[in-house]
Amino acid sequence: MMKTPIYDFLTEYKNKNSTRFHMPGHKGRGLGESGSIAAFDITEITGADFLFSASDKGIISESEKVASQLFNSALTVYSTEGSTLAIKTMLFLAVKGKKHKILAARNVHKSFINACALIDINVDWLYPEETLTSVCTMRLSASELEKALTSYKKDKLPDAVYITTPDYLGNMLDVKGLSDVCRKYDIPLLVDNAHGAYLNFLKNNMHPLALGADMCCDSAHKTLPCLTGGAYLHISYKAKDEFKIRANVKEAMQIFATTSPSYLILGSLDLCNKIFSNKEYINRLDKTCKRVKQLKSAIKSIGFDVIESRNTEPLKLVLLTGRLCTSGKEILRALEKHNIYCEYADISAVVLMISPDNNEDDFNALLCALNDIKETITNTPVSERIEDENIYIQAAEKKMSIRDALFSKSESIPIDNAMGKICASPVSICPPCIPMVISGEVFDGNNIKLLKKYSIFSVDVVQYP
Ligand SMILES: Cc1ncc(COP(=O)(O)O)c(C=O)c1O
Repeated sequence: MMKTPIYDFLTEYKNKNSTRFHMPGHKGRGLGESGSIAAFDITEITGADFLFSASDKGIISESEKVASQLFNSALTVYSTEGSTLAIKTMLFLAVKGKKHKILAARNVHKSFINACALIDINVDWLYPEETLTSVCTMRLSASELEKALTSYKKDKLPDAVYITTPDYLGNMLDVKGLSDVCRKYDIPLLVDNAHGAYLNFLKNNMHPLALGADMCCDSAHKTLPCLTGGAYLHISYKAKDEFKIRANVKEAMQIFATTSPSYLILGSLDLCNKIFSNKEYINRLDKTCKRVKQLKSAIKSIGFDVIESRNTEPLKLVLLTGRLCTSGKEILRALEKHNIYCEYADISAVVLMISPDNNEDDFNALLCALNDIKETITNTPVSERIEDENIYIQAAEKKMSIRDALFSKSESIPIDNAMGKICASPVSICPPCIPMVISGEVFDGNNIKLLKKYSIFSVDVVQYP
């Protein structure tokens, strides 16, 4: 008998009827009408258009134009391979015919590093002063960006500035302030908004395009009722004209993409347009944001710390576990025993992603479980609980370009032998897939300690001839 382990796992998980606080945004509900989705899984039959053709009249272009109206962009194109494909595309567009140099805040997703290796981009990294909170977060301010840009000679300025906002913990940067600085230097601002597609539909629009970004990617699947893989690449009205030509954007995207984009995903992106043009969803989104605020207060009163500030995106719920002297992973496992599954956990945080397709039963289940878990923690002797060590990403010496290091002959070695060696493959845990050491950087005391903290005990290093 042919084994079907993936299908079996999916079926079992579906049948458990778990409370879902992880991607995708549809939470196993809220996607079109019932019926077999496989019936919608087609290929480029007559009339079905082709994702990478420049045709202005096909069904895909037509749908993309509707999305573009909803996001108020000059141009929106669909990706069926997530933000990963959109990031490669926007970087290609930004450096084509230019210096191949980007200035970026260091908390990039791995897809950015892979794109830099493929396109051969050199990166100048920004390590904002207030970074020491998590590998996920870099609080880059407009003044820090300005200071960095003034240090370049005019003819050496980077082709673009690249930031990640919101980050995996829901922290948002001052896109308006950062984009004003970029405009002053006539440099495009590129935003990895993988976690923030829904920000466009808030009453107070906090989407990067609305705040001045030139190009940005959104993983529709992370926060919207869209199938996994669905994403947008948006080009702003404010962007340079050269970025706004549909045929050029499509041409750039097809370099990195499959020639078999999924119509299931395209169909779900198309359905999203219908959902967002309906006031009912927008109202539900607004209500959900308010409900999450209440939920955070209730969780705090149980005794958990939650990340909350005016720079926090409203639908991420991040529990900080440090004060309770227990690890985020411990809480995640305890929640799973209550049939509640979260997006991500590390030593000091648990990340729950909420969408309008979560409901009151979900929230009640979460509160009940956290109450139970808090009881257990309180009854655990302090000596059995863990302490978080204060160590985060710092600048490391760079000896090779990302591309040269990644394409070099390499070998896997134990982390204890890595001191002074050059990193070949970027090292990260996934999620959040933020490389703690990047191809071309040298392993040193700090990054080795950091990797061990995340239980990474072997690394890929450049092998000398
Ligand atoms: C910040 C960030 N950027 C980009 C990506 C890649 O997005 P996708 O999975 O849609 O390709 C992720 C995925 O988790 C992410 O967290």
